[in-house]
Amino acid sequence: MNASPPPLTAKTRLLGVIGDPVAQSLSPEIHNPVLRALGLDYRYLAFHVVPSELEAAVKGMAALGVVGFNATVPHKEALIPLMDRLSPQAEAIGAINTVSIGDDGALTGDNTDAYGFATAIEEAFTGNPATAPVVALGAGGAARAVLTGLVQCGFRTIHIANRTLEKAERLAEEWGKANPDATFTALPLEAEKLPLEEAGLLVNTSSLGLKGGGELPVFLDLARLGPDALVADIASFAKPTPLALAAKARGLTVQDGLPMLIHQAARAFNIWTGATMPVALVKRNLLGES
Ligand code: ATR
Repeated sequence: MNASPPPLTAKTRLLGVIGDPVAQSLSPEIHNPVLRALGLDYRYLAFHVVPSELEAAVKGMAALGVVGFNATVPHKEALIPLMDRLSPQAEAIGAINTVSIGDDGALTGDNTDAYGFATAIEEAFTGNPATAPVVALGAGGAARAVLTGLVQCGFRTIHIANRTLEKAERLAEEWGKANPDATFTALPLEAEKLPLEEAGLLVNTSSLGLKGGGELPVFLDLARLGPDALVADIASFAKPTPLALAAKARGLTVQDGLPMLIHQAARAFNIWTGATMPVALVKRNLLGES
């Protein structure tokens, strides 16, 4: 494969990611080496856009003929009213992580997070989703994409556990209505309420334990999970979360947030360029594998 990038010329097209903060984003490191390897004449940059400048930034992207961009925290919901069109996924999830800009400047908001999550889980989950209950922790923005991804994987029994029970109840009702083949239950974060013994998949979408001490809260007694349960912590990256560490220590299979990140990027890459992202190459690049 061609490893040297096409030279920057007047024809080079621009892609990027907006966020606040954005310096932590791995997306430039996902996209640029692949663009280079495939000889595609694009560059992917990170733009620090504060919420008060979101609309100006989006209009500027369209005016400059940027091909498309990703959005991360805190812009995923705020982008919705700025779009000309929404994909069904963005509409269902209520958030946008991928925008494409047509030649006429029309903005289409899409969401590739559910696809990314579903593809990552399909790589790691060895059971039968139709019969394996899921315990999903969190009911924020990330949970919405994950719930849609779980349905796409074929999971049918989904318990949504959240510190604020009403938020879990709202999600359970909304996803239950949209997905009549699956059952969604809202639970509080209490040990006796969480059906960990029967769970085939424990997925954390909350920011629980991201900051501060390494102790897992008492309601998360991982000894209650079966030996074949998969633990997916989408918030865990280079620095493992206490949940990921505790699950590894128990000998459980743990999936961190990287596979989901790579697969959501692959779908966005395809939307923008029409090309297929060589995911194995991205994994090798990011994990430093030869
Ligand atoms: P995101 O878009 O990343 O999902 P969010 O919408 O702010 O972020 O949601 C954060 C989630 O983490 C919520 O489910 C939140 O619980 P509440 O709905 O009760 O706020 C959860 N969360 C954050 N800190 C937590 C903590 N210390 N313990 C338990 N849950 C926590």
